[in-house]
Amino acid sequence: ISLLPYNTFGIDKKAKFFSVAESIDDVKNAIEGAKSKDVSLIVLGGGSNILLTQDIDAWVLKIELKGIEITQEKDGYLQVAVGAGEVWHDFVMHCIANDWAGVENLSLIPGTVGASPMQNIGAYGIEIKEVFDKLEAINRATLALETFDWDSCKFGYRESVFKNELKDQYIITKVYFKLDKTPKFNVSYGAIAETLKQMGNTTLSIRSISDAVIQIRQQKLPDPKVIGNAGSFFKNPTISTDQYDELKEKYSSIPGYPVEGGIKVPAAWLIEQDGWKGKTFGSIGVHKNQPLVLVNYGNGDGLEIAKLSKEIRTSVFNKFGIMLHPEVNFL
Ligand code: EPU
Repeated sequence: ISLLPYNTFGIDKKAKFFSVAESIDDVKNAIEGAKSKDVSLIVLGGGSNILLTQDIDAWVLKIELKGIEITQEKDGYLQVAVGAGEVWHDFVMHCIANDWAGVENLSLIPGTVGASPMQNIGAYGIEIKEVFDKLEAINRATLALETFDWDSCKFGYRESVFKNELKDQYIITKVYFKLDKTPKFNVSYGAIAETLKQMGNTTLSIRSISDAVIQIRQQKLPDPKVIGNAGSFFKNPTISTDQYDELKEKYSSIPGYPVEGGIKVPAAWLIEQDGWKGKTFGSIGVHKNQPLVLVNYGNGDGLEIAKLSKEIRTSVFNKFGIMLHPEVNFL
C-alpha cells in the first residue's frame, strides 16, 4: 500500500503491511500480526513528523482511536481524556468551543494527539508538558495497557522517554490533559500581541489567542495540504555561552535565548544567514518564509530531502561550528 496519503511530506513510498486501529484490540492484533510476519511495526499518527526515504519492509499501523471526554472536574481544573487518533487541531478547537483553556497557543499544529507527547510539541510560548497529566500506552512486548504519569514521560525540548529509552516499546493510546476553566493567557511570544493588535482585538480570550496563532502560522508556515512538509525539520540548537559570545563578535545580530545548559540559537537564523532560505532544487527546497522547514513541491523524493538536510547541516557547521540535529524522524 502506498503511504502517500499518510505523510504530510507527500512522499510516495510503500508499506509491506498496513492496518488501521480504531480500538485497543486492533492495536494488539497489529502487534501480533507484525510478530507473526517477522517484520517491525511502525506506528503512524498524522504522519506529520516523518520523512520516508524508502519503501518500508514493515507493518505500518495508523492510529484512529477517537474520543474526547471529561474524566475529572475539580478546583477549577478539568481532566480530559483524548483518544490518540484525534487530530490535534480538532482537539484544540473542541477545547476552545467548550471554554477549556491551556492549548490555545498550540493551534494548527499538524499531527495527532497520540503523537503530541512523543516529542513534547510546542509553539508560541507553550509546550504540551504544561497541560499534560498522564497517558496510557500498550506495552508491545506484553500487550499490557500501562499508565505513564508526568515524571515518567521525561519531557524535554522536543523530547520524551518514548523517543529515547523506551523508543519503539510502547504505543500511546490515550492522553489525559489538565485544562483550566479559568484561562491563564500566555502572550509571552511577541508576535501574538502584535497580531492581536493588527486584528483589532483588544480583549484577550482563548479564542482570540488561537485566532492570532492561526494567522501567524498561516503567514509563516506552508500548509502541508498545499506544499508537502513536516514542520521544523531541525531542532533549535543550544550552544555554550562561550561559543555564543565568540559568534556574537563575528555576527553581531545573532539571536540567542538563555536556556538550561547554554544559549538556544534559532536554526532558522543560521540557515538563512548561510544562504539557504528559499532555495529550490528540482521539486524540493527550503521554505521562503521559514527556512527551518524543508518542502516538497510535488514529486520530491525522500532521499533527496535527506541529502539536502545533510548538505545544510554540513554547510551550517562549516560556517558557524554548530551542528543541527533533525527534528523529523527518518524512516
Ligand atoms: N528567523 C530567521 N529567519 C526566518 C525565520 C526566523 O532568522 O526566516 C529567526 C529569527 O531570529 C526569529 C527566530 O528565528 O526570531 C525564531 O523564529 P520563529 O519564531 O519562527 O520560531 P522557530 O524557532 O524558527 C520554533 C519551533 C516551531 C514553532 C515556533 C513558534 C522548533 C524546532 N520549532 O521555530 O515549531 O512553531 O518556534 O513557537 O523549535 C515545529 O516544531 O514543527 C514547529 C513549526
